[in-house]
Amino acid sequence: MDISLIQAQVESEIQNLNSLEALEALRVKYLGRKGLVTELTGKIATLPQGERAGFGQQVNALKSKVLSLLEEKRPTLGGQSSKAQIRPCDIGMPGIAHELGHLHILTQVTEEICAIFNRMGFSVVEGPEVETEFNNFTGLNIPLDHPSRDAFDTFYLKSPLDKLGAGKSKEKLLLRSHTSPVQIRVMSSRKPPFAVVVPGRVYRPDAVDASHSFMFNQIEGFMVDKGIRFSDLKGVLEEFAKAVFGNDIKMRFRPHFFPFTEPSAEVDISCIICAGHRSQGDQQKRCSVCGGKGWLEILGSGMIHPNVFKNVGIDPKKYTGFAFGMGVERIAMLKYGINDIRLFFENDLRFLKQF
Ligand code: DAH
Repeated sequence: MDISLIQAQVESEIQNLNSLEALEALRVKYLGRKGLVTELTGKIATLPQGERAGFGQQVNALKSKVLSLLEEKRPTLGGQSSKAQIRPCDIGMPGIAHELGHLHILTQVTEEICAIFNRMGFSVVEGPEVETEFNNFTGLNIPLDHPSRDAFDTFYLKSPLDKLGAGKSKEKLLLRSHTSPVQIRVMSSRKPPFAVVVPGRVYRPDAVDASHSFMFNQIEGFMVDKGIRFSDLKGVLEEFAKAVFGNDIKMRFRPHFFPFTEPSAEVDISCIICAGHRSQGDQQKRCSVCGGKGWLEILGSGMIHPNVFKNVGIDPKKYTGFAFGMGVERIAMLKYGINDIRLFFENDLRFLKQF
C-alpha cells in the first residue's frame, strides 16, 4: 500500500472520530503490534539493500505523523495529552538526602591523640606492618632468648628472597608486634633532635576476648635531644592525658620493666568513673571500671636505653630521650566507656554510629 495513501486515510478517519475508545482503536489499527505502520516497519528488512534507506525514512515520517495526529486529537475528545501525563518537576520538593559516612571511632581517637602531640611539636611518622626481626626485637634491646619476647613472637613471614630461591636471607620478617620498631627506623635515618609519634596496627599471638585482639592499634612516641630528662616525659604525658581525659585527672608513674627503656614506668590515670572515691568498702560497691583500685593503666614509657642508641649509631653520652607506647583501643574504651574490644572490629553500625 502506498504510504501517502495510508497517511491520507488516517487523516480522514481521525476527523470523524468522536470518542476516546475509537481513538484508541485507531491507534491500534495503525501503530499496534499488528498495525499497518508496524507492518510496514517490518517490511523494511525484506527490501533490496538499495531501497531500504528511502523506504525506512518514509515509514518513520508516517509514524511520526500518525503519532502527532493522535496527540492533537486526544484533548478534543476529553483525554489528556501524553505530555500532560508526565509529572511536572516540583523544584520545591525536599531532595533525597544520602546518608554520609564518618570516620571510624579508632581513626577519630588516633587523629585526636596525634593532634595533641602535634601541638607539642611532635611530627607523625608511619612504618610498615611487616617488619624485620632486628627492628622489632634486637634493635630494641630485646635479645633472641629474652622472656619478654614470648608475648610478642608471632606471625613470621617467608622473605620474598627465600621464595625467589635467592638463598636464605639473613633477615627474618614478621608482622610487627608493636609500633616501637619505628624508633629504630627514625633514629637510624635522622639526626637528633626529633620528636615523633607513630600510629599504626600491631599484631600479637593473643586469643580474642573482651580485652584482647590479635590485631590492634598503638601510638608510639619518642623525643631525642641533648639533655632530655624524665621530667620532660612526665610533662608531655601529663599534657596529653589532661587533653584526652580532662584537667581533673591525676597521674601516677609506677616503676616497670621494658627492655628498650631504663628506667621504665607504667603510667596510670585516676579512674575517670570513681576518681578513687569508691575504691574502699565492700565488693559490691567497687567501681566496675577500675575494679576498686582507683587507677587505670594507660601506657608504658621510659628513658630510651643506651643500648638502643648504640644500635642505631647515636652516642648515648651526648643524647638522651624518652619513649612511650599506648593502645588506641584502650584509650578509646576508657574515654567512651566501651567494655569490649571486639566492638571496634565487628563493623556493627549500631555501635559505630554512636561516635
Ligand atoms: N612497645 C610496648 C608494647 O607494645 C609499649 C611501650 C612501652 C613502648 C614502653 C615504649 C615504652 O616506647 O617506652 O607493649
